[in-house]
Amino acid sequence: MAEKSQNTVITRPFFRLMLAQIGAGMLVVATEMAVSMGLGLGLEVWILVSCQAFFASILSLFFALGWGWVVVQLALPWVTWGALYLEIPSWVYLACFALTYAFYRNATSERVPLYLSNRTTWLALGELIERSPNPERGTFIDLGSGVGGTLDYLGKLKPGWQFNGVESAPLSFVISWIRAKFSKNHNVFVNFADIWTVDLGGVDMVYAFLSPAPMERLLAKAKNEMHQGRVFISNSFWPDGEDFDECLELSDSRKTKLYIKKM
Ligand SMILES: C[S@@+](CC[C@H](N)C(=O)[O-])C[C@H]1O[C@@H](n2cnc3c(N)ncnc32)[C@H](O)[C@@H]1O
Repeated sequence: MAEKSQNTVITRPFFRLMLAQIGAGMLVVATEMAVSMGLGLGLEVWILVSCQAFFASILSLFFALGWGWVVVQLALPWVTWGALYLEIPSWVYLACFALTYAFYRNATSERVPLYLSNRTTWLALGELIERSPNPERGTFIDLGSGVGGTLDYLGKLKPGWQFNGVESAPLSFVISWIRAKFSKNHNVFVNFADIWTVDLGGVDMVYAFLSPAPMERLLAKAKNEMHQGRVFISNSFWPDGEDFDECLELSDSRKTKLYIKKM
């Protein structure tokens, strides 16, 4: 239930970001009018752009957006003005939007952007497979498999295992699908699907590297569907108050934590 309320349109960062820019726009218009009526002066464009950036960042803090978003809000009016000044053709915006959507469609809907597991994590996952009851044969699923690097690495490492990926960002899916198609071992498969539609029953090892937002729901799904003794691993994120069996802290620069739960 808590998860559901977190995911309403109104609480999504993108919505609050837009609201802050619209509010800032209104404040800029009001400031412009006040200055022009009070002092009989028109403000120069660079002052208006600075005001837009300033008001948008203050409103972002008011809307509880993090400092990363504040930086985006500060930059957005300047980038927009720069683009208008340079008269960039409109198809470039469309292309940028399409490209961003193709990789980051889940950033707004699921609050899960694309970032990738690193090599240290791949090695650790390989060791966890080695520790499993049958290291030579089994099934592994990467929920939100990105561009397929984890699957590709593990596919080569463990030829007897089957590695499945699930991804719904179009371009990430296409890249990982091509990688899987040309993988020498033919043990990597990627589906264009939503993770919530995938049945985890019968999977030996489930891996997810998502964000805090879907974790409570995902763990509940895993508990509900995975068979006894199978392993659920989450990179970096674990729902508050839920227990896990082990937390592996890796020796990479970001001190990746792998939360492991045996069902
Ligand atoms: C942080 S990336 C991790 C990529 C990959 N698992 C790795 O470790 O390198 C998370 C991925 O999950 C995907 N994703 C998020 N929510 C999803 C959903 N509901 N269905 C399918 N894919 C999803 C995103 O598009 C993104 O590519």
